Amino acid sequence: MHTTTDYSYAQKLRQELSAPLFNPLLKKWVGRGELDYEVYLKTPELLSLQVEEEQRVAHDELMFQVVHQAQELWLKLASREAVEVVAELDGGALWAASARLERVSRVLRTMVSELAVLETMTPDTYQVIRRSLGNGSGQESPGYNMLRHAAAGLEGALERLLARHEQTLKSVYSAGGPDDLKRICEQLVDVDEAFQGWLHAHFQLVRRTIGVDRSVKALDGLPTQVLAGRMTMPLFRQLWDVRVELTSAWRREGGLAPGASREGCMHAGPGAYTAPRPGGGCPAHGAFPPAEL
Ligand code: HEM
Repeated sequence: MHTTTDYSYAQKLRQELSAPLFNPLLKKWVGRGELDYEVYLKTPELLSLQVEEEQRVAHDELMFQVVHQAQELWLKLASREAVEVVAELDGGALWAASARLERVSRVLRTMVSELAVLETMTPDTYQVIRRSLGNGSGQESPGYNMLRHAAAGLEGALERLLARHEQTLKSVYSAGGPDDLKRICEQLVDVDEAFQGWLHAHFQLVRRTIGVDRSVKALDGLPTQVLAGRMTMPLFRQLWDVRVELTSAWRREGGLAPGASREGCMHAGPGAYTAPRPGGGCPAHGAFPPAEL
């Protein structure tokens, strides 16, 4: 049984990774910043945006910085895409807006899974890194501020879209409401849900890393407990409020008791296609939600 560990292999590998590498397929040196890929993506600048290895306060600091920087980039993308959606909604290009809103949702969902990487850092390691973060606050994140600002712009574009079509959120969500506008509204809800999902994932990250309690203060002095209330603050409040209104207008009458006969619910025989009814109700039992709220 040996008693000493030979770290020379890891040391050699570390040194090799900090110098250009010869790619035998290309027969070129990669890492000098001269190749088209490196020039276009500015990889020399990008890869030097993290604290140098010798200067890190903890090994995990690289991971900590990479995740934060990546999150800032995704937030930048999401906010710039939101600007395009505003232009598309104002120009009546609803298909294009719909496709782009899907992209924004996917970006935000990607950010949720990225936070799982940060969760591999244990609280004791963060205690070390935390000492070098000054009084930094999450509220100082440029990406977060840009996204919230862009979302306010999106809210305005939705209001203008509804006004041009002489619709309200209530009428859009009523039986027979315009499907295209309803689709856009639902995709904005998708974006909002993904955004709140990100804040929720962040809350759990904070909880397992420094704890959530009135006594636990963030670096800016705020108790971490404030995050609990903030993570459900929506981007598009009216889109959530309309659901409350729909449910308060809901009536139990017209439904079927569980197990009761459903005779007459469909016009056609089995296997025949029946055109969908606005609001999705069956002819015998009426549409839901009601045509007029
Ligand atoms: C271990 C990692 C993290 C810890 C311990 C942490 C801790 C905290 C704490 C205590 C707060 C509340 C006080 C404040 O506003 O500063 C906060 C807020 C915030 N953090 Fe983090 N955070 C972490 C990672 C991240 C990451 C990766 C992002 C991505 C950009 C982020 C973005 C934010 C944002 C936007 C807020 C404000 C949220 C709001 O006010 O609703 N945080 N964070």
